Amino acid sequence: MAMKEDSNLELLIDQLADLIIKSKRIVVFTGAGVSTESGIPDFRSPDGIWTKYDPEDFTYQKFVSSKEARKKMYGMLEESGLMADTNPNPAHYAIAELEKMGKLDCVITQNVDGLHQKAGNSEDKVFQLHGNMVRAICLGCNKRYPLGDVINKVKQGVDDPGCEKCGGILKPDAVFFGETLPHRELNEATSRSAKCDLFIVIGSSLVVYPAAYMPTYAVNAGAKLVIINREPTHMDRASHIRIYEGAGETMLKVMERVRGSNT
Ligand code: APR
Repeated sequence: MAMKEDSNLELLIDQLADLIIKSKRIVVFTGAGVSTESGIPDFRSPDGIWTKYDPEDFTYQKFVSSKEARKKMYGMLEESGLMADTNPNPAHYAIAELEKMGKLDCVITQNVDGLHQKAGNSEDKVFQLHGNMVRAICLGCNKRYPLGDVINKVKQGVDDPGCEKCGGILKPDAVFFGETLPHRELNEATSRSAKCDLFIVIGSSLVVYPAAYMPTYAVNAGAKLVIINREPTHMDRASHIRIYEGAGETMLKVMERVRGSNT
């Protein structure tokens, strides 16, 4: 019954706004679902990337093993829309506004699209657990390159572009399956999850570890957990508020109420 659902949703949005107003150290944890309204596909929705490509083809081991695997990776990055130059949506702007209000401790994101920074979150408040798609790194000498330049070379037909300095393999700075997460980001995310008073998950299926441990650290440390996600997750039962609606529309309404309370 639409009416019941809407009034229930309005109630949930009011409750979330109240929690935000009362909280001082909010951690927002995002996954690909926060960027789908910006036009970037997620991974596990019905038309997500892993329904079109086999993740087994994109492990770190495969990537370093052959130039065919590297060609396949660059092809997937282009065709999948993962590299699309898009803009933040209302969910990203809402999270940036939380920082402006002095309520955001940090954003922990699994995304590599850089949209949190583009929406206005400061670099030192965004912890990218799965790296980024801005740079490529030489596996031989660690020299960094703009990833866009490497992809342009591939598009121009250069076969397996390597490091200009040492000839080594160039790898996007994103964390591939089989790779360890960046230590600093993982340590910061872990400790801040355990110190926040409100942990808001937006757009993640919470199935990839160790990133998916973060909400558990928060709950174990006594924080309130909120989950905004279209599909169910294994943490739903532990959540204080659970909203199944779209990230953008939900966060837009929540921030209207939070702003309204400040006046
Ligand atoms: N609003 C709310 N939820 C949404 C929206 C939206 N507009 N769009 C998608 N979702 C939900 C989906 O229902 C899904 O449960 O977001 C979730 C996205 O989950 P995944 O596609 O699994 O993405 P994510 O959790 O970020 O995946 C984690 O897996 O492949 C690796 O490294 C990759 O970082 C990624 C990691």
